[in-house]
Amino acid sequence: MAKELIIVLDFGGQYNQLIARRVRDFNVYCEILPYTVSIEKIKELSPKGIIFTGGPNSVYDPTSPHYSKEIFELGIPILGICYGCQFMAYALGGSVATASKATAREYGKTKTYYDENSILFKNLPSVGTSWMSHSDYISKTPEGFEIVAHTEHCPVAAMQNVDKKFYGVQFHPEVNHTENGKDMLYKFLYDVCECSGEWKMESFIEKTVAEISEQVGSDGVVLGLSGGVDSSVAAALISKAVGKQLTCVFVDQGLMRKDEGDFVEQTFTKLFDLNFVRVNCQQTFYEKLKGYTDPEDKRHIIGTEFYKVFSDKIKESYGDGYFAQGTIYPDRIESGKGDAAKIKTHHNQVKITDEVQFKGVIEPLKDLFKDEVRKVGEMLGLPHELVWRQPFPGPGLGVRIIGEITEEKIKILQEADAILRDEMDRCGYAENMAQFFAVLPGVKTVGVMGDARTYDELIAIRAVTTDDFMTADFAKIPYEILGRVSNRIINEVDHVNRVVYDITSKPPGTVEWE
Ligand code: XMP
Repeated sequence: MAKELIIVLDFGGQYNQLIARRVRDFNVYCEILPYTVSIEKIKELSPKGIIFTGGPNSVYDPTSPHYSKEIFELGIPILGICYGCQFMAYALGGSVATASKATAREYGKTKTYYDENSILFKNLPSVGTSWMSHSDYISKTPEGFEIVAHTEHCPVAAMQNVDKKFYGVQFHPEVNHTENGKDMLYKFLYDVCECSGEWKMESFIEKTVAEISEQVGSDGVVLGLSGGVDSSVAAALISKAVGKQLTCVFVDQGLMRKDEGDFVEQTFTKLFDLNFVRVNCQQTFYEKLKGYTDPEDKRHIIGTEFYKVFSDKIKESYGDGYFAQGTIYPDRIESGKGDAAKIKTHHNQVKITDEVQFKGVIEPLKDLFKDEVRKVGEMLGLPHELVWRQPFPGPGLGVRIIGEITEEKIKILQEADAILRDEMDRCGYAENMAQFFAVLPGVKTVGVMGDARTYDELIAIRAVTTDDFMTADFAKIPYEILGRVSNRIINEVDHVNRVVYDITSKPPGTVEWE
């Protein structure tokens, strides 16, 4: 695949992933790099264009992220967004001011006037709504720049230096609230950077398969297979590259949903011509987790134990070899890689300790969003049910049992979750949701059953709709379905006397409870 890359230079803005999504949706490959990346690295990558993201700081703040001015000498087109636009103005000799009056700060939908002669706004309406989120503004453009958009309070809503191909917008074209914002990004990619739009999943597959077979050579690879979408797609991709040099290891850590372990074993032994190994190590995980209640502690213990099992399997099967896993882009971002804040450490992002030895780690899906992974899975011919399975996190029920994990709690949760899945499948509502499951919060409440008082566990139901799992909405499940689920759980699962429904979106919640 010819290299056509857009770099999104991350200054800490909240919409960075969205910018990357938009670019990729236009068939242009893009990577988000932290603002600490070296100029040499950028030169080496030779991108067709660079997008500076927004960020929470003022350019005059001594701790604010700055980048070497050399970036403006590379002859590469740049689009600065919000803070990125202010940084461009500041670095090239313009001025940025802090709005003294509250009215000059703009947050939210703002009427904006565009100059249709600008390549960014050509053939788009000259007046429209843009999404603003800033308290600083550009008070003087750098030499060589002209103003091409303004609002009532913001004199420079967009600026450009056509000769140098530098563009800056104070608003956020990547969010849906900016009318025609996607068109503006499209124009930057295609009309300014002259991208040809070659980022297609076919080329991703070809390129990745070639890279894996070159990296692995004649060595062996052990893949951590959970049976979820990501690791299944990774298995298909790697096996395309190295065939039977791949061994898929499914670790039953005792935190699977009811019957899940058998389902995974059957699917992978019957459907695929793969080396498949199931390792049952429930008791080891239970022992290690005993007494721990903190979500991050639990995640670290589970992740570390997984790596130990895989490392042993590599030693046993190949002596030395590669370890592969189905990490996807949001796993890395939410685990706090780069400049993003740590939300939770995904099990496959736990630090690999010295005890564990791999020749190298292969993560072929690490730059993809969930819906892109599914596209790859379909193109590789994986069964529809597998590709569209709802995700199941590596730490399994371990992050759905709040507080200490015990075998008794696992049993309760498995039963409740199985009823929930059964009801959703029966009424056909399952396919309206991206993910749904039961949670055991470890809270006891008083109830009455028969004529007697009960004091028992609570089950929470979590169900969301989303494409990319970076944001999600709670699913609007009809009450009668929720009612049936609640009735069955209380009647059929011992030690549960109450069921509640979680109506939190992400953000502010996350999909999983821990
Ligand atoms: P959150 O809870 O972060 O979940 O909003 C987003 C998606 O990621 C899944 N998830 C994980 N998947 N290992 C995984 O393989 C993990 O450690 C992990 N934590 C969350 C979650 O189920 C949802 O689909």
